[in-house]
Amino acid sequence: MNAPASPLPIVILISGRGSNLQSIIDAVASDMLPVEIRAVISNRPVAEGLQRATQAGIPATVIDHSLYSDRAKFDQALREGIERWQPGLIVLAGFMRILTAGFVHHYQGRMLNIHPSLLPDFPGLRTHQRALESGCKQHGASIHFVTAAVDGGPVVLQARVPVYQQDTVTTLATRVLEQEHRLYPLAIRWFAEQRLRLDSTGHAVLDDKVLTEPVILTPESGTLC
Ligand code: GRF
Repeated sequence: MNAPASPLPIVILISGRGSNLQSIIDAVASDMLPVEIRAVISNRPVAEGLQRATQAGIPATVIDHSLYSDRAKFDQALREGIERWQPGLIVLAGFMRILTAGFVHHYQGRMLNIHPSLLPDFPGLRTHQRALESGCKQHGASIHFVTAAVDGGPVVLQARVPVYQQDTVTTLATRVLEQEHRLYPLAIRWFAEQRLRLDSTGHAVLDDKVLTEPVILTPESGTLC
């Protein structure tokens, strides 16, 4: 399917460092990703990623979750903050807040997340530590559609990395992160090109085929394909 003439407007949600945000900014800057990053929103005022957005000329705003009395009120404010930009896709890039079912439902099929494990293995936090403790030989990262089940939505794309005996959390996280930076621009591109969608039964569909398992990005694949 051909890419639409105008770039897809997206909003990126972050909480911290923003290295995945940077990989998306870089892919857009090198004309490899037909999206317009309308805004970056952080739930933490000190997120390093806010500076990355500002440096790239992208509006960066903070909606500080600690100023809201409950999750629903924060999500309402977040939704209003997002809607100002009329995005076609919400990209969670290291956004470390659990979202309410109402919020997730509103953006169903229009919200992607990146998770640092080979889902369904190790949903939740401390994924690298848990991978090391489990003794698994392979670890990696996943891109999935967001559903009400935390880290449980249909997985679209994964990259695997080996786990070595001498690995520490830091060495393993570094190896995985390198793959994350390849994965996200590719999955976003598929969505922007209308090749990727979530169907009405909750399955991810790529190029008109239901994904019964995620696409695996191998080390040999290009950055974007
Ligand atoms: C990444 O490992 C991502 O998978 C996880 O949080 C981390 C965010 O890193 N959800 P960064 O802020 O994109 O550098």
